[in-house]
Amino acid sequence: MTNKYMYFIANWKMFGGLNTLNSLHKVDKFIKIFKKKKLTKIIYCPPSTLIRPMCKKLKNSLIKVGAQNCHEKDDYGAFTGSINSRMLKNVGAEFVIIGHSENRLTGETNKLINLKIKSALKSGLKVIFCIGESLKEKRKKMTKKVLDNQLKLGLYKIKDKKNILIAYEPVWSIGSGLVPKSTELLTIIDFIKKKYGNYKVLYGGSVNSKNINQFKSIDNLNGFLIGGASRDSNKFIDIIKKTYN
Ligand code: PGA
Repeated sequence: MTNKYMYFIANWKMFGGLNTLNSLHKVDKFIKIFKKKKLTKIIYCPPSTLIRPMCKKLKNSLIKVGAQNCHEKDDYGAFTGSINSRMLKNVGAEFVIIGHSENRLTGETNKLINLKIKSALKSGLKVIFCIGESLKEKRKKMTKKVLDNQLKLGLYKIKDKKNILIAYEPVWSIGSGLVPKSTELLTIIDFIKKKYGNYKVLYGGSVNSKNINQFKSIDNLNGFLIGGASRDSNKFIDIIKKTYN
């Protein structure tokens, strides 16, 4: 891979308690002595309840912290159970995942995602914007059309390219053990970059230390969004090491 920086983003989803934060010590120690540390950006996105304690734990670390979603309004309001981007920034988050397919499945529309991205940027957060097609759409050869629509509507009237990372996560690959062929991935990333400009594009979906080698030939890839395998520090470190070997 020829990219200047590689992102390794850990998406913990609805897993983890205060005790799981102890495992970060290993990753912190690893990155501090890693030869490629200047090229490696590690971001942990725990559940909201762990953002503050995680930030405290990682105070003198190279590892950054992000959230997994936010409300579309950056202002305060009567929205029971919601957390806005301003609050996330306030407790130390620097990033936020928006548009994850697990949230799209429960009713998040492209329009809502666009509002969330705008609100996050306004609050000074960097956005990890997820897109991806379902298996049915892939079978119907609609992948590019679906991604194009998600990108067009999600990024509507947004000019800030520097603070948005695009994460291509095919829905069928998340947690399934399946990953796209390298040639498919290369073509999709190329399509996104050519049509939407100079965004950093990451891949997510069943990335682990066993299949990481398959992604090495994809030289337009800027990193990974990792779910299951990111919760085990050893596996996560292994993925990072193998990416550069
Ligand atoms: P996975 O999840 O690595 O467990 O497939 C990725 C994600 O949902 O971001």
